[in-house]
Amino acid sequence: MGKYILGIETSCDETAAAVVENGRILHANVIRSSAAIHEKYGGVVPEIASREHVNAIIPVIEEALYQAKLSFSDLTALAVCCGPGLLGSLIVGVSAAKALAAVSGKPLIPVHHLASHIAANYLAFEDLEPPFLALIVSGAHSHIVEVVSYTEYSLLARTRDDAPGEAYDKISREIGLAYPGGPKLDKLSYEGNPKTLDLPRSKFQDSLDFSFSGIKTATLNELNKAEQKAAKRLVMREEILSNADIAASFQEAVVDTLMSHLEAALEAHPQEKLVLAGGVSANSLLRKRCEELGRKRDIQIYMPPLALCTDNAAMTAAQGYYEYESGIRAESCLNASAMWELGAPFPATRKLSTEDVLTSCE
Ligand code: KG4
Ligand code: ZN
Repeated sequence: MGKYILGIETSCDETAAAVVENGRILHANVIRSSAAIHEKYGGVVPEIASREHVNAIIPVIEEALYQAKLSFSDLTALAVCCGPGLLGSLIVGVSAAKALAAVSGKPLIPVHHLASHIAANYLAFEDLEPPFLALIVSGAHSHIVEVVSYTEYSLLARTRDDAPGEAYDKISREIGLAYPGGPKLDKLSYEGNPKTLDLPRSKFQDSLDFSFSGIKTATLNELNKAEQKAAKRLVMREEILSNADIAASFQEAVVDTLMSHLEAALEAHPQEKLVLAGGVSANSLLRKRCEELGRKRDIQIYMPPLALCTDNAAMTAAQGYYEYESGIRAESCLNASAMWELGAPFPATRKLSTEDVLTSCE
């Protein structure tokens, strides 16, 4: 019989609930975003995001169960994103999940946000199994990890400053694109010349770690210089340096950096499968370059469909299934955490033995 997991995700500005069977089959995927409200502030306002989660969480969960044609009694367990993310936002999802698990008597499974981004791929590719190498690129993170098993990871690289999505959103805002700017800048880049700006591609001597603040600052400097020139000549800045050329140069520099680190990681830690995950994995140039890399190195590339790249709860439910099968269970005092290292144990969580998992009649 299928194991149905209800996933709940509220780590940023999306209130999401989904139902997934056996970690692979999607029955419902409901997302309500408050991005339109944040748009006028140029980025996510945490207090507003939390308030919107409070308003949306119960209707979104009800809608997911309705679409899946299931009731609480049909569920095997509830899985909730506990971090990393905005604390006030996470707390709303975790509190709702705790309350619903308590009243329904169902087990509750804590899920790491980045682990869930990886798991988005299990929904799209039924043959995909660990081990593989994963690039996780989002609004707050940039990691290269070896996914050893469904619940074990070895971190090979992380960003030492900005995340790529954060840099995309910052540059987008400066050139007048509304939040979230990543997809809009991606589109605009095709109208520009990527060679216009000579932007740095940072690399550390003996580490695979990323740094994106250099690219971001250099782009902002070029923008300022162009504005000063334009002011002197009494013309619009766009006549000196166009938004499309900025977008194309910036995108090229970010994707070059990601690709060179990926190649170095694959050299040092060869794998036959490469998985992309996180909001920035929707980026068209990154996807194209990864396909080329796959052909060049003769490895299989997995990229989530665009709808599963950015935050959703289908990925939470998919990862929740594998955590459930590995015996992970939350205690009733579970809480959210803004910081949580991928692969590290989470507070107020216990692990059942393999025997208990097999014999448990939850
Ligand atoms: O994973 P996600 O939904 O949220 C976090 O966990 O942070 O990622 C959101 C980020 C935003 O910064 C957004 O601008 C970026 O992903 N993004 C993109 C694209 N689509 C979304 N960045 C570049 N190109 C895209 N096509
Ligand atoms: Zn995310």
